[in-house]
Amino acid sequence: MQSFQLLSEKFALHFDQQFFPAEPATLYSPNNYFLKLGGKRIRPVLCLMGNELFDEITDDAWHAGVAIELFHNFTLIHDDMMDNAPLRRGMETVHSKYGSSTALLAGDVMLVTAYEQLNRIAPTHIQTILRLFNATAKEVCEGQQYDMDFEKTESVKFDDYLKMIELKTSVALAASLKTGAILGGAGERNQNLLYDFGKKLGIAFQIQDDYLDAFGDPGKFGKQPGGDILANKKTFLLIHAMEKASASQKKELQKLISGDQPGKIEKVLQIFRECKADEWALQLKNKFLDEAIIHLEDVAVLSKRKDPLKELAQFLVKRDY
Ligand code: IPE
Ligand code: IPE
Ligand code: MG
Ligand code: MG
Ligand code: MG
Repeated sequence: MQSFQLLSEKFALHFDQQFFPAEPATLYSPNNYFLKLGGKRIRPVLCLMGNELFDEITDDAWHAGVAIELFHNFTLIHDDMMDNAPLRRGMETVHSKYGSSTALLAGDVMLVTAYEQLNRIAPTHIQTILRLFNATAKEVCEGQQYDMDFEKTESVKFDDYLKMIELKTSVALAASLKTGAILGGAGERNQNLLYDFGKKLGIAFQIQDDYLDAFGDPGKFGKQPGGDILANKKTFLLIHAMEKASASQKKELQKLISGDQPGKIEKVLQIFRECKADEWALQLKNKFLDEAIIHLEDVAVLSKRKDPLKELAQFLVKRDY
């Protein structure tokens, strides 16, 4: 079994290839620019780990991993437009650097390139993998729409937030693991257990993402600090603060999120802290991480083989970028 670090390094080398032709450079160089910014590559590594749990890593798992990472980068290019985000991975987002029309098209062609990579998977597996990939991609779109709808919804229930992050984020992690497992010849029970592990882990991962957006170290996180607050995102931080706030804090919070007053981010963060939303994040993450691990424990392979996945899970909830 290979460690998280080793697999990440191997994937980075494998992924360092020319996916796009030279012309038109106005379309393809934005994509090359974006891929060069890197990222954590956790989804393809999950695919590779899900695969290696059952045997040596197969060529198909590498193809799937590449497709998954390209798909992820496509979602980020479009997500940054939707979220009006100026920064990603410590650099300018594609739409701020090249304009929204180009970013739209660059994302589209990134998605098509993901499908080209999927199409390299052997005929015995391609239909199963494609079905999972497509179902997941549609769920991501649904989650992204809920995320935007919620910007305009005054009060969002915690369960609706959970459903939204499950769709926009978790299912992609879950499907990455399951893809690897399918390609590794896992039985259905093991495939589904890994999927459930990924889904719970994905929730913990998005909770950490939301936490870092508000409380992360801007130098490390690489995104605009307080971007979610500016975009009126309904994160668990806001939902928890609304629930715990006194009448006057609640009124203040409502006023803040319905407007654009100077100092908005700092004022909202102050109320988050007063309501201990930041502390709650830790409990919440650990709850979903624990639930995730229970599913992983049930996977019928030697316990030692699961160590890299446990290591990755720990990293995902503790990370600062
Ligand atoms: C960002 O994903 C989008 C979310 C679902 C939170 P990552 O945090 O995996 O982004 P990169 O690829 O490492 O930059
Ligand atoms: C993005 O969620 C999820 C997808 C890209 C599908 P966020 O909007 O929270 O991700 P970041 O914070 O921009 O990376
Ligand atoms: Mg975003
Ligand atoms: Mg978003
Ligand atoms: Mg975020």
